[in-house]
Amino acid sequence: MRRIIQVGVGGMGGTWTERVAASKRWEAAAYVDVNRKNLIAAAARHGMPKSRCFTDLEEALRHTEADALLDVTPQQFRRKVCTAALRRGLHVLCEKPLADSLRNAVALVETAAKEKRVLMVAQNYRYQVGAQTVKQFLHSGKLGTLGYIGVSFHKGPHFGGFREQMAYPLVLDMSIHHFDLMRLFVGKDVRAVQAASINAPWNWNKGDATVMTQLEFIGGVVVNYFGSWVSQGAETSWNGDWRFEGSNGVLLWRQDGVFFSDKGTEMTPVPLVDFPVEHQAYLLEAFADALDSGKEPETSGKRNLNSLATTYAVVKAARERRRVQVTELIK
Ligand SMILES: NC(=O)c1ccc[n+]([C@@H]2O[C@H](COP(=O)([O-])OP(=O)(O)OC[C@H]3O[C@@H](n4cnc5c(N)ncnc54)[C@H](O)[C@@H]3O)[C@@H](O)[C@H]2O)c1
Repeated sequence: MRRIIQVGVGGMGGTWTERVAASKRWEAAAYVDVNRKNLIAAAARHGMPKSRCFTDLEEALRHTEADALLDVTPQQFRRKVCTAALRRGLHVLCEKPLADSLRNAVALVETAAKEKRVLMVAQNYRYQVGAQTVKQFLHSGKLGTLGYIGVSFHKGPHFGGFREQMAYPLVLDMSIHHFDLMRLFVGKDVRAVQAASINAPWNWNKGDATVMTQLEFIGGVVVNYFGSWVSQGAETSWNGDWRFEGSNGVLLWRQDGVFFSDKGTEMTPVPLVDFPVEHQAYLLEAFADALDSGKEPETSGKRNLNSLATTYAVVKAARERRRVQVTELIK
């Protein structure tokens, strides 16, 4: 069993403590959280002794033998937390987004390379049955040439906390999952974007939480994305509703499954692939596999940069009301 220090045991941290506790490849070496209440609650849930609970990261790193660190803090702490771990020789699995700016993300990727450590980002939306079924169907060639994609995502969560204070909370905290899924499906990087940001009259966040954006991929596929975090009803799933238009027909991915229409025929359900280990459980397996094999994970920090850059390109395009090349932001 490999040992992992978990930093941040709050909201999403609770899911991670469960997944690590259930893992056959990882054991929790220590918990770190600046919020003592969250720390005590997580320790009580999993029987973590007091001696292995820390409010100070440096102290935890000094006193704990571990192979890796799992960062589940909000993105504004990411660079500091992950850099400290990488410099101590630990491999890092961190939550999305990889950082709170592209500069900080690139700095983390460079530090990981310098220290020869794995840096992997938790893009868990890739690793679920629906997404893997879509990926396999597209790669099978049954849809023919993929032309364009429409994505509609509508939720109305009241999170409180850091998200409601952020500029562009939807794009900078959530849409990275959708943009990263697009890259998985298209198999290429995003080249350029255009966008319009909407501040709905009833928006309860400080920043705009609705966006309409067009994303152009290398190779020519275009995606129309309409996302909102202030929807007042008829919500979609967290994945959103997807429509893939190809030369042979249309593929739909919705909450109730994956469907294919072959030029005018009824929508036929597509059999779901066998993908038993999903989301965070899958990521823990993939992280362990990367350490075992020495191979770069599919969602390494470096490979994740185009997904993160796309979020910043969308914000820039909306602010400046122009088409933005992703390469303007990241070389
Ligand atoms: N992959 C997903 O589906 C998914 C879902 C939800 C959240 N997230 C991501 O998880 C991260 C955390 O989000 P959350 O909702 O759990 O936030 P949260 O505010 O609920 O919890 C964060 C925890 O980190 C602690 N913390 C903050 N700074 C710290 C520091 N410097 N050192 C140690 N502990 C610190 C806080 O005290 C808190 O307990 C974010 O990046 C978010 O985007 C991912």
